[in-house]
Amino acid sequence: MTVKTLEDLFVESLKDIYYAEKHILKALPGMVKKAGSKKLRDALETHRQETEGQIDRLEQVFKLFDISPRGKKCEAIEGILAEAKEHMEDIEDPEVLDAGMIGSAQAVEHYEITRYGTLIAWAKRLGRDEAMQLLDANLKQEKHADRLLSDIAESSVNEKAAA
Ligand SMILES: [Fe+2]
Ligand SMILES: [Fe+2]
Repeated sequence: MTVKTLEDLFVESLKDIYYAEKHILKALPGMVKKAGSKKLRDALETHRQETEGQIDRLEQVFKLFDISPRGKKCEAIEGILAEAKEHMEDIEDPEVLDAGMIGSAQAVEHYEITRYGTLIAWAKRLGRDEAMQLLDANLKQEKHADRLLSDIAESSVNEKAAA
């Protein structure tokens, strides 16, 4: 598709985050399994469930724009997830691994936060309030997940990893 208008750009970006969310959903169970800290495991599992809901919301946004949901390959999320996988394969110390996985998970959250921030600004400019609200619900969950991961790192995981 050729991008000519802001709406075209919005749709292209929507496809990017849709692809990203689907890949994140596939990657999360492996991270849940590998997490040593119960708090981290629970946070990742909760976010896995939230991610299912986020994908549903994105499908609603596609519907609002009268297009069928389709992803567009997103190299950025693939790179971040590849790095997470590398940590899971290479780090033997389970406590250091937890710290590494939190780092990767937060890189994912920050990627999502930047994408949703942009999409919301564009939806607002396009006067698409309903789309804006759906995207904002996703953004709130990403921000919450990011804060929770910081709390887990700072309250226990980093200290154990450094011991
Ligand atoms: Fe997400
Ligand atoms: Fe997320």
